[in-house]
Amino acid sequence: MCGIVGYIGPREAYPIIIEGLKRLEYRGYDSAGIALFDGTDLKVSKTKGKVADLEDRSDKEISKTGNVGIGHTRWATHGVPNDVNSHPHLSNSGDLVIIHNGIIENYESLKQELISRGYTFKSDTDTEVLINLIEDVKKKENVKLGKAVQIALNQVIGAYAIAVFDKNKPEEVVVARLGSPLAIGIGENEDEFFIASDASPFLEYTKNAVYLEDEEMAVIRFHKGIKIRKIHDDSLVDTYVQELQINLEQIEKGGYDHFMLKEIHEQPKAIKDTYRGRLRRNDAIIKMAGVEDNMKKFLNANRIIIVACGTSWHAGLVAEYIFEDLARIPVEVEYASEFRYRNPVIREDDVLIAISQSGETADTLAAIKLAKSKGAFVFGVCNVVGSSIARESDAGAYTHAGPEIGVASTKAFTTQITVLTLIALRLARAKGTISSSDFRQHLLELEMIPKKVEKALESDENIKKISAVYKDVSNFLYLGRGYNFPVALEGALKLKEISYIHAEGYPAAEMKHGPIALIDENMPIVVIATKKGHYEKVVSNIQEIKSRKGKIIGIVTEGDVQVKQLADHVIEVPETLESLSPLLTTIPLQLLSYHIAVMLDKNVDQPRNLAKSVTVE
Ligand code: F6R
Repeated sequence: MCGIVGYIGPREAYPIIIEGLKRLEYRGYDSAGIALFDGTDLKVSKTKGKVADLEDRSDKEISKTGNVGIGHTRWATHGVPNDVNSHPHLSNSGDLVIIHNGIIENYESLKQELISRGYTFKSDTDTEVLINLIEDVKKKENVKLGKAVQIALNQVIGAYAIAVFDKNKPEEVVVARLGSPLAIGIGENEDEFFIASDASPFLEYTKNAVYLEDEEMAVIRFHKGIKIRKIHDDSLVDTYVQELQINLEQIEKGGYDHFMLKEIHEQPKAIKDTYRGRLRRNDAIIKMAGVEDNMKKFLNANRIIIVACGTSWHAGLVAEYIFEDLARIPVEVEYASEFRYRNPVIREDDVLIAISQSGETADTLAAIKLAKSKGAFVFGVCNVVGSSIARESDAGAYTHAGPEIGVASTKAFTTQITVLTLIALRLARAKGTISSSDFRQHLLELEMIPKKVEKALESDENIKKISAVYKDVSNFLYLGRGYNFPVALEGALKLKEISYIHAEGYPAAEMKHGPIALIDENMPIVVIATKKGHYEKVVSNIQEIKSRKGKIIGIVTEGDVQVKQLADHVIEVPETLESLSPLLTTIPLQLLSYHIAVMLDKNVDQPRNLAKSVTVE
């Protein structure tokens, strides 16, 4: 986690870095800092809090001029969020300065070694250890900064994206990555360079970027360009410049109060973008290159193992229902963090699907590496193009949701379900486990989903009113059955994340095995009760809640009569196939959590303690 930004070139670095950090705040936001070389000296300003706090502080502390600089927005790992632990960190001499995203796992032994040689430390961070290690190597070996960084990194165990410079040689910035993303924007005529955790900080300046691969470092020299080499064996790497496909509009709020709300409303388009070109209804086919090219692997699979975390794990659970239901392939869904540490049985004829919005989640990445080492075929479902998981997978399919900036995942979830549905349908067709008419009906219904999501979004005012009634409660229950059980989990997670209200998701029928004890007149229970999803059984569950005086918020199919008579509130969604219903029932749950969080005055886009991309385990 953490966001890093840097600049070297003819412009003033301060505004570029500050605006860049604001765009990367989704990665961490408990403290922020900046280091600038102002022509004669190094100026550092850093503070606990957000980038806005850093602006206030640097107004008072530093001159804000200079053409070289680095900045950081932090999600604490080692050391509590405070001013001292904030990045950038200086070496003991005050000459070298660093920003770091990641974790140096062996920092304690390195620190003891440095202390024994007279180094002192101000902060509790692993990063301050790294910059002093670099300084120590530089002095001991009498080498240039690039070489010192390389030697130091070879002693390090852990993950990093770093940017380092020396105030005595400010025309050069050294960057390196292992396990944390790092992009370098290249200005026109190669006379300026931007460094960032992703391309968003430099989109208005250049569309040309180089993404460092793991175990690569680059020395960036003003007017002289970039030299990339492998950290471990020193071999030079060709500089591969990519043209960026995203634009500024996609990463701005576009008139919405929050990114989350914008992203909820983007779902009709995002879902359409996800199936565009893949779903060809007129020809009654689904074509996805990653699946076509590996059809044999899928068809001969002993089973599919899905690994993911958080919301992506919930999308995996929906996929389990759809793969087993339509394609009759056994599926297991695992938390990546558990899977990687529990010595799982993985066979060469297993297919592992890794789902990740960011494509950087450390546990999911580790699960992929484990599966690959056992010979399984790995298929990645990611949103961020070129991300680590996308690259590490044997094949994959992007979700094409566009940048998701709100920390709480919304459009990533529905587009992941869309991709997984397309895959399941394609495999079902190839295996002959779905009839031609059922297949066509699925394609037709899938194409109607964007319009139906738009319709579901029209319940916004109703949901706002319901939110006002329940915003002050301490607990919520979410119940669903079948395809909508994972949606109940997702609804509960959304509420927890952004409103800090405790919420639990349960399969509706499990209620009587424990959670029913919680129900009294103060407990709101969101029940997903769509027409085709074991409707009568869910209605019975609602009766059980009613007789214990629980407050019922029913998510129902348009025109529903039965639940309306029992529930305290209902929110309608359009009718669709049961297998596609999660794409619609999720929408009101996203809006409910959004409105409650806004009414409670919570920071919707940057909820406490969270970060968008979890690059630590
Ligand atoms: C919830 C949320 C997280 C992520 C999880 C996995 O709203 O955003 O639970 O879903 O951290 O992240 P990715 O999908 O990037 O691997």
